[in-house]
Amino acid sequence: MIYLDNAATTPMSPAAISAMTQVMQETYGNPSSIHGHGRQAGKLLREVRQELARLLGTKPQHIFFTSGGTESNNTAIIGYCLRHQDRGKHIITTAIEHHAVLEPIEYLVEKFGFEVTILEPENQEITADQVKNALREDTILVSTMYANNETGTLLPIAEIGKVLNDHQAVYHVDAVQAVGKIEILPEELGIDFLSASAHKFYGPKGVGFLYAATTDFDSYLHGGDQEQKKRAGTENLPAIIGMVAALKDDLEHIEPNFEKVQKLQETFLAEMDGSNYYLNQGKEQLPYVLNIGFPGQRNDLLLLRLDLEGISISTGSACTAGVVQVSHVLQAFYGEDSPRLHESVRVSISPQNTEQEMITLAKTLKNIIGG
Ligand SMILES: Cc1ncc(COP(=O)(O)O)c(C=O)c1O
Repeated sequence: MIYLDNAATTPMSPAAISAMTQVMQETYGNPSSIHGHGRQAGKLLREVRQELARLLGTKPQHIFFTSGGTESNNTAIIGYCLRHQDRGKHIITTAIEHHAVLEPIEYLVEKFGFEVTILEPENQEITADQVKNALREDTILVSTMYANNETGTLLPIAEIGKVLNDHQAVYHVDAVQAVGKIEILPEELGIDFLSASAHKFYGPKGVGFLYAATTDFDSYLHGGDQEQKKRAGTENLPAIIGMVAALKDDLEHIEPNFEKVQKLQETFLAEMDGSNYYLNQGKEQLPYVLNIGFPGQRNDLLLLRLDLEGISISTGSACTAGVVQVSHVLQAFYGEDSPRLHESVRVSISPQNTEQEMITLAKTLKNIIGG
């Protein structure tokens, strides 16, 4: 069995599993309880928040633990916009965002009368100039992803951050596919909100965090006083511990991991040499995601054939009730009539993959496409 769908989710790292196991066995108190067991859990929660803040070059009060990328995105987008609608009701985002950004914005448009400008990529690129030109006096939020989940394309985060420096609009970055893969220091990049999800960087599922420069946003969940009253509900301490252990481990190996994944991608492409394929890419790319198309081949059938051979990859686009939808990202990159929409698959690589796995994938693909 070969797993090459790491942009969908990753296996947990041994560091995360061992840190979590220890907490589950030893520290089961509620961090909000005042007795000894609770204080022990509370201390651990404070320490892990501090550790995560250190990894992000920020202070613990800017870290909010959530259930993952979707919740972080919804909290930042809906929480900020609802609180500040008196300053304006215009939002800017891009056509290549994850549905966990597009849908909350759509909700604000439909239910609260917000207006949205959706930037279309030009030559597979979103530029800071596009953001600059779309800004209006009543823009209150710009939301872009750090790296695209279907193609690995990087967006010019620092440049967009600079454009927003002297504008009232805050900058939300969905960094779900970038955290743990490249060093991200939100304060240096002019980011006001940053979303992350542990299961994309070798941590557990159902946990993530929101970096927020300000607490000036509405809470999404109401109830207890946890997370500075911004996210009610008992903190999932074992998952949080596992997440931060995973991230620490990623960041300690960030360069060798990056180089290894780059090498694995090169091995795969070298093995594919001479076959009939094309790549779906932007100007700046993360090596972790490779979107590749095969002229005349149906991507859903390719996936099934690879699955029969024990190889898991994906099309990258959403899959509802087992039916693969056409990718809105490739549509934005190449137009709705492009054959690429039906011929492309996503190979998402982790440093745990091996050269042999990449060669096996290439050989199996070549067998299937007859090239
Ligand atoms: C770019 C991006 N944002 C958000 C999400 C949602 O994250 P989660 O699964 O933690 O809700 C994903 C997951 O696929 C993603 O790739």
